[in-house]
Amino acid sequence: MQDDIQSILLGEAQIQSRLDELAAEIQQVYTGQDLTVVGVLTGSVMFVADLLKRLPIPLRLDNIGISSYRGGTRATDELVITKELRLDVRGREVLVIDDILDSGATLQRLRALLGSLGPRRVRCCVFLEKERSRPKPITADFVAFRIPDRFVVGYGLDYQERYRNLPYVAVLRPEIVAAGK
Ligand code: IMP
Ligand code: MG
Repeated sequence: MQDDIQSILLGEAQIQSRLDELAAEIQQVYTGQDLTVVGVLTGSVMFVADLLKRLPIPLRLDNIGISSYRGGTRATDELVITKELRLDVRGREVLVIDDILDSGATLQRLRALLGSLGPRRVRCCVFLEKERSRPKPITADFVAFRIPDRFVVGYGLDYQERYRNLPYVAVLRPEIVAAGK
């Protein structure tokens, strides 16, 4: 697996120390509130786990499954719900946690979907935000890192369902992506 990596963009220690800061920001906003966290499967699992361990406030955790990438590095237009929410979010403060803000289609759809369930407020937190132009100006309320517009893997992010278990964020060697393995 390490042989497939071209370069490391964000190292393990860098990620963990940024999470300390980000958790403090989030804690400030939600202290005294009844928070419901909605993790977006599967890419946010590491981020959600590491972040929530740093949030000593009462909260509930649910996951929603939404899928747009069919294995490759390009998004398809269609977004499919692969796991429904289990918790009731009516009247709740909701924090959606996703892996990456790329085109913004996923967050836009999730904001609309969760908004229709009658929450008090929906905010979004992403691990990564790509520096690129977007068809519609979609922003996240909390961002751990802004990165160049490159395809990355690791720390939950996959290429064809692989590399999620890397503890850092990396760029794959071009021949790996070209071969479509
Ligand atoms: P969107 O284009 O903002 O809707 O992002 C959709 C989804 O594409 C993200 O939640 C990721 O799962 C995936 N994605 C976008 N960019 C990358 C990347 O660089 N590496 C791995 N997955 C990505
Ligand atoms: Mg995803």
